[in-house]
Amino acid sequence: MKRTNLTNLAMAGILAVSINLTMAEDAGQKGLERGVHKSVFGKTSDGAVVDEYTLVNSSGAVAKIITYGGIVRELHVPDAEGNLGDVVLGFDSLEKYLAGHPYFGAIVGRYANRIAKGEFTLDGEKYELATNDGPNHLHGGIKGFDKVVWDAAPVESDAGPALKLSYLSKDGEEGYPGNLEVTVVYTLTDDNALRIEYEAETDKATPVNLTNHSYFNLDGEGAILDHIIMLAADFYTPVDATLIPTGEIVSVKGTIMDFTEPKAIGSRIEQLDNEPQGYDHNYVLRGGGGELAPAARVEGPDSGRVMEVYTTEPGIQFYTGNFLDGALEGKGGTVYEQYAAFCLETDHFPDSVHVPHFPSVILRPGEVYTQTTEYRFSTAK
Ligand code: BGC
Repeated sequence: MKRTNLTNLAMAGILAVSINLTMAEDAGQKGLERGVHKSVFGKTSDGAVVDEYTLVNSSGAVAKIITYGGIVRELHVPDAEGNLGDVVLGFDSLEKYLAGHPYFGAIVGRYANRIAKGEFTLDGEKYELATNDGPNHLHGGIKGFDKVVWDAAPVESDAGPALKLSYLSKDGEEGYPGNLEVTVVYTLTDDNALRIEYEAETDKATPVNLTNHSYFNLDGEGAILDHIIMLAADFYTPVDATLIPTGEIVSVKGTIMDFTEPKAIGSRIEQLDNEPQGYDHNYVLRGGGGELAPAARVEGPDSGRVMEVYTTEPGIQFYTGNFLDGALEGKGGTVYEQYAAFCLETDHFPDSVHVPHFPSVILRPGEVYTQTTEYRFSTAK
């Protein structure tokens, strides 16, 4: 009797798993139950298992997050006709992520964006970091937070299915001082926002600047040059040839940097004189940082999808995928050409460790670093 019950239970388990798999294979992602579903995504070269967590909200939107790099691998939200579509760039297999990529969907840290010459002085001590972007340090170094396997566990939230990722960045990792305990909570809210809440604590003063590096295409494919964007920013921070801020804070008014009114991303892109040409600039958000405030609004003309960005950060890096060059083949065999996506990385300003009048990026023992960003999805009427 006991045996039969157990067998039945086991059978039911197998059935449940296979139903889940069939549903997950649905092109439209419809049918998965609201909640957090876990599966194995692959193994790193040193044998660490990488899991994928699928977050499904009550409206059927889906976010797939892998524990390698905390990468948002897929994000399915409805278009104006209610059809779900994937709005982020990424790959179908872990191997492709391991082979190298420009931070698709990843958590970036310990310091997002650039630190000039990969060095800084803090409390009288000089620190040397890897220079992995010409003469500069970029996105946390050679093995940043985008290339480590995070611990993960679903968390209870009334707002929607949520996943908490944790990582301990040890003292000296990539040259940074202090043991830094980091948590990132992804929530796919029932009203279709991807909310990202970051926290960090240290035992020694260190710069911290965390962001998510998702590449968005609201129409799912094609160039994003006809997407309409508005940035809640009246100023930006100009950069030198190596993309390090000059320290100036310049008004966008009347220039090709001005997106205070909605404009097509490509409307003036050809007038930029950088190489490869495109936007790759930090904008100074009107909200100023601290409170959750509007940062950007983007509309995909074909799909009618709208993404609004809210953040507690003072800056946003607007990047138009300038360095994509058709060399990477992404999900479903899509080749990622230049301008295949845009990034809106909410964070502190690049190279703030060298510019005293930029908002401070130094976290000290006893303090808690926090940042919250929401990518809110809806459709144009
Ligand atoms: C940087 C770009 C860089 C891209 C991918 C962005 O945050 O501003 O210059 O190419 O990340 O690494």
